[in-house]
Amino acid sequence: MKITVVGAGAVGATCADNIARKELCSELVLLDIKEGVAEGKAMDLMQTATLLGFDTRITGSTNDYAKTANTDVAVITSGIPRKPGMTREELIGINAGIVKTVVQNILQHSPNAIIIVISNPMDTMTYLALQSSGLPKNRIIGMGGILDSSRFKYYLSTAIGCAATDLQGVVIGGHGDTTMIPLARLATYQGSPVADYLDADTLKKVVADTMIGGATLTGLLGTSAWYAPGAAGAALVESIVRDEKKLFPCCVSLDGEYGQKDICIGVPVIIGKNGWEKIIDYKLTPDEQAAFNKSADAVRNMNAVLATL
Ligand code: 2OP
Repeated sequence: MKITVVGAGAVGATCADNIARKELCSELVLLDIKEGVAEGKAMDLMQTATLLGFDTRITGSTNDYAKTANTDVAVITSGIPRKPGMTREELIGINAGIVKTVVQNILQHSPNAIIIVISNPMDTMTYLALQSSGLPKNRIIGMGGILDSSRFKYYLSTAIGCAATDLQGVVIGGHGDTTMIPLARLATYQGSPVADYLDADTLKKVVADTMIGGATLTGLLGTSAWYAPGAAGAALVESIVRDEKKLFPCCVSLDGEYGQKDICIGVPVIIGKNGWEKIIDYKLTPDEQAAFNKSADAVRNMNAVLATL
């Protein structure tokens, strides 16, 4: 098994770190355009192997895609990250060109790769990757909902005062501060609705905090977060390479599901060896469906910008 992570910034390196610790592959390539950075991070990570006890071989490459040949799963983190006060959407002008080129280069050397897109604005970058590559739709997966759901469970656990791993909670829709939809109605604490433990105002605040979860971290850190985004990317890789069939909310191409088509947006999907294998129908209430439609409109408006670049 061979995995490539494109972009050796904080998210890419953290994702690679998690992939190696979990020993998801024998060969892991970290690639970046900045001379020496991927090689340096790969070497640094390899020097943790005896400390952490993994046998994955990590190598770095400065923009030489030949070294990524025969990759099974490629994770794309390339592009500029958010700065405080910026939305993910403001990154489109620069990141669209980068993501399109990266996808072409990966597929030139690994025509059968499954591609995970993390670069922002993620829903539009996933759509771009799909449109520009012509790949079968299940081989392109955008990573957003799994991260947002993890943040949702973090805020829920803090409010309830319980273990985050005892919670179930899913965020669907776009991966944007105003487009994501934490499904509070369906969130549970070991099987019972979280609404049994939180008053309506507190639950509303948890939802609001979740939606701006990325922006809050960008404000604190001065750049985009990396631990949770990197771990979320690795969790997706794990479900693919181990064919776990886990249910994760991911950004995928819809063809009528959830009332939408010609769009990539977050919905619950099963992730296995073929990429995303099945969309799960959550049977939304009319209000939830209206929120989803509004989110899809915003993502579609962002996708329209691609034609103007
Ligand atoms: C985030 O929400 C990087 O979009 C990512 O932190």
